[in-house]
Formats: sequence, structure tokens, C-alpha cells
Amino acid sequence: MQKSKIWDGAVRIFHWSQVLLLAGLWYSADQEWYGLHMTLAYTLAALLLSRVAWGFVGSENARFSHFVKSPRQAWLWLRRSPKPAGTGHNPLSGYMVLLMLTLLLLQFVTGLMTSDDILTEGPLVALVPSAWVSVASVIHQWNINVILTLVAVHIIAAIWHQWRGDKVITAMVTGRKLSAENAEFKFRAVGLYLLFVLVVGGVFYLWQGDVVLEMLRSEWI
Ligand code: HEM
Ligand code: HEM
Repeated sequence: MQKSKIWDGAVRIFHWSQVLLLAGLWYSADQEWYGLHMTLAYTLAALLLSRVAWGFVGSENARFSHFVKSPRQAWLWLRRSPKPAGTGHNPLSGYMVLLMLTLLLLQFVTGLMTSDDILTEGPLVALVPSAWVSVASVIHQWNINVILTLVAVHIIAAIWHQWRGDKVITAMVTGRKLSAENAEFKFRAVGLYLLFVLVVGGVFYLWQGDVVLEMLRSEWI
């Protein structure tokens, strides 16, 4: 057994900021602070879209091609016993990661077309047919329940692994994990990920910065 680096800074920054941002998004919607809601949503989207880009050009084990396995491979992995402590997403958590990323993106896109039927609406509401707005608003309300259910399963699974000695939660914090496999991945500098985040965030700022700042001003000043 040896301790080696398995998660780069990008995956860890993305992971823990998404947890904080989701909590803030839920709370801000609950309080009807939509200026804050949109600010947090664009921030999360910048981190999320950059994580998707990282899945193609980022560190070796953060790439989709590395952790998305065929159903047959996933089945063989499931039947393996005992399962060795891995050095990245296992085939099952790989699918879970894909699903969570997709549902978060869906939540963001439907938010852009959501209206509260009073004063607040996403920037695409005026541009798409009204039937789309109705559907998107319903999806935006319900999809969050699906996300929270998956998150609950995800957290229980993470705690279970950690408790059984496969320290996956510690690894998501420190980046390092004890494992039988020799993990020697090619890592890319976290600065590149942060650059993606800045560029995508900058595009959102140019597009919606004025509108959102005005909403923040009227909510908080
Ligand atoms: C809002 C809540 C959460 C969401 C949406 C979420 C989502 C995700 C996503 C998308 C990944 C994949 C990361 C990547 O490849 O970039 C991941 C990995 C992981 N998350 Fe979370 N997470 C949440 C909360 C938590 C919490 C509270 C814990 C710890 C108790 C946790 C533990 C982990 C672990 C250990 C992994 C790595 C899994 C593996 O080794 O395959 N997550 N999470
Ligand atoms: C991934 C990012 C997002 C998350 C997690 C999220 C989450 C939520 C939640 C939990 C609600 C309350 C739903 C309910 O009434 O039960 C909500 C409502 C709302 N969100 Fe988002 N949201 C996100 C992105 C956005 C974006 C990008 C916009 C617009 C730019 C937006 C605009 C709204 C509006 C206008 C409402 C009120 C809808 C209503 O009252 O029916 N959201 N959001």
C-alpha cells in the first residue's frame, strides 16, 4: 500500500465550491433573493462548464475517457470481491458523476428560462416560446429534488467507503489516498482550470453583469 496523489486542485476546488454554491442557491431561492441566486448560479456554471472542459483536456484521471467505463466493465467491477481501494472514480461512481454534472447543467439551463410569474425571470425567457418557459420552470422546481436525492445517496456512499477504510472523503480534501494500485497520473496545473473559470465567468459577466448587479443593488442597498 502506498499514498499517492489522486485528485488535482481543479477537481477539489470544483467539488467543494459546488457544495457551498448549491447550499447558497437553495437558500437564496427560498428567501427570494434572486440577484444573489443568479450571481451564485453564474459562478457555479463557470466552475461546472470548466469542469466539463477539464473532463476533455484536464488531468489524466479527471478525464471522462478515464473514468466512464462501458456497462460491461461496470458489471465486471460490481462482481469483483473484495474491491480494491481505487485511485479515482470507480465505474459506478463514474456514472453517478456524469449524472450529477448533467442534472446540474440542466438546472442551470432551465434557470435561464425560468420565470416566477411576478417580477423575476431568466435572460432567455423573452427569447423562447412561452410553452418552453412553463416547462423549464417546472423542471427547475422539480429537478432540484432529484439532485438533492442523488446528493444524499452520494454522501451516504462516500461516508460508507470512508468508514470501511477506503478514505475517499479525505482524498477529496487532501488529494492523496492510500491504495494498492500504483497511481502515477499526469496532472495539469490548477491555474489552467482557474483560467477557464475566469474566461467563462467573464463571458457571463459581459452578458448579464449589468442586470444582475442592478438586482443585487435593489435587494441589498
Ligand atoms: C451538494 C453536494 C454535492 C454534490 C453536488 C457533489 C457532487 C460531486 C461530483 C460532481 C463529484 C465528481 C467530482 C469530479 O470528478 O470533478 C463528486 C465526487 C466526490 N464527492 Fe461529492 N458532491 C456533494 C457533496 C459531497 C459531500 C458532502 C461529500 C463528503 C461527505 C462528498 C464526497 C465526494 C467524494 C469522496 C467524491 C469522490 C468520489 C470517488 O472517489 O469516486 N461529496 N461529488
Ligand atoms: C445550477 C444552478 C441553479 C440552481 C441549483 C437553482 C436552484 C433553484 C431552486 C432550488 C429554486 C426554488 C424552486 C422552488 O420554487 O421550489 C429556484 C428558483 C428559481 N430560480 Fe434557480 N437555480 C439555478 C440557476 C438559476 C438561474 C441561472 C436562474 C436565472 C438566471 C435562476 C432563476 C430562478 C428563478 C427566477 C426562480 C423562481 C422560480 C419560481 O418561483 O417558480 N435559477 N432555483
